[in-house]
Amino acid sequence: MKDFVYYAPTEVVFGEQSEDKVAGLVKKYGGHKVLVHYGGGSVKKSGLLDKVCNLLKEEGVEAVLLGGVVPNPRLSLVHQGIELCRKEGVDFILAVGGGSVIDSSKAIAYGVPYEGDVWDVYLRKYNPETALPIGCVLTIPAAGSEMSDSSVITNEEGWVKLGYSNNVCRAKFAIMNPCRTYTLPAYQTAAGVTDIMMHTMERYFTQDDDMDLTTELAEALLRTMKESVFAVLKDPCNYRHRAQIMWGGSLAHNDLTGCGVTGDWATHQLGHELSGMFDATHGASLAAMWPSWARYVYKSNVSRFVRFAVNVMDVPNDFTDPEGTALKGIEAMERFYCRIGMPINIKGLIGREVTDEEIKEMTRKCSRDYTTAQGAFQTLEASDIEAIYRMAKG
Ligand code: NZQ
Ligand code: ZN
Repeated sequence: MKDFVYYAPTEVVFGEQSEDKVAGLVKKYGGHKVLVHYGGGSVKKSGLLDKVCNLLKEEGVEAVLLGGVVPNPRLSLVHQGIELCRKEGVDFILAVGGGSVIDSSKAIAYGVPYEGDVWDVYLRKYNPETALPIGCVLTIPAAGSEMSDSSVITNEEGWVKLGYSNNVCRAKFAIMNPCRTYTLPAYQTAAGVTDIMMHTMERYFTQDDDMDLTTELAEALLRTMKESVFAVLKDPCNYRHRAQIMWGGSLAHNDLTGCGVTGDWATHQLGHELSGMFDATHGASLAAMWPSWARYVYKSNVSRFVRFAVNVMDVPNDFTDPEGTALKGIEAMERFYCRIGMPINIKGLIGREVTDEEIKEMTRKCSRDYTTAQGAFQTLEASDIEAIYRMAKG
């Protein structure tokens, strides 16, 4: 078991009408003039944006608005946000939306006090010791950015998607009202649950497999997400199951399911290149890669895959054939992805066959120009990465 530090400082305000508390929370964490940052329109359509702005106004909190964040949020809008915050003297950023809006807010928060280009942060040329405070009103459970230390930004120059983690960007508060997720399209709901499960699975598939409590928590989370996703795909306004998913999204990525273990994260790195190159939905890119990753690496710890098959995917344990049981678990996961409308390979994700050149380019980027191995469950060199992309072609 690994030593660990567990740090989850975000104040969570969860439940129906929780957004009513937004102005009080902004003030509590020092906000006087707020950048309200949002996406492409869902929060306008639902009335959430108006509600938040009115609540801020009533409490005497000034607000400046910046919308237009797209999934796989872009560096150019981050630059605009930084300029706007400086010009307007903004001292707090309020993200109203999903992971993309929160990540864009985190990048702006790093950039405002930094004189150089904020992309330096993602290139690891500059390690910020400070950032503007941020808070969020979450509208889609998926990325877990509301409680994580991470953000992922796409630079349109070269379509490079890079993540960066630092505690200074953690949200001061996260408002989560499950009713706000009723309007999610089925595809986004399913992609969100896929991402939530993958945040747990990236930690679950570890060689440090002696942390029983972490393992049990992870399995409970995975089983709950599996059950709840079918309930909400059938009945989008099911509060009980929307709530399980919303809370699961935060617990999956605030590191509760990672205490005492080394995470893998190769599937995320493989998926990020698909999102960067094809602008694919993050969760769907993970479903497209995981089965091939799993088949490539399962022999390096068969018993972990057997445990996953039996305890999460309900596969009967064939004690005479551990490898067979492990493989049945991977097949069961593929069937689950298919049932919720997720792809299980790259062709299913992008709608055509990926070319040889595209595989080579993704391999180059994923291995950081052939300098960096990915993964920890099994270390993946560039040749392994390329082999997995080829297995995942479809
Ligand atoms: O832009 P709008 O109109 O709001 O539409 C969004 C967007 O099209 C829509 N949506 C959100 N809430 C809605 C809604 N539609 C109807 N009703 C609602 N209540 O959903 C679409 C997806 O939103 P997005 O914010 O992109 O989703 P998600 O939360 O999955 O975030 C994805 C981004 O987060 C990154 C991903 O790489 C991706 O860029 N991640 C961030 C992490 C982190 N910061 O810790 C970790 C993750 O592994 C992930 O990499
Ligand atoms: Zn993710």
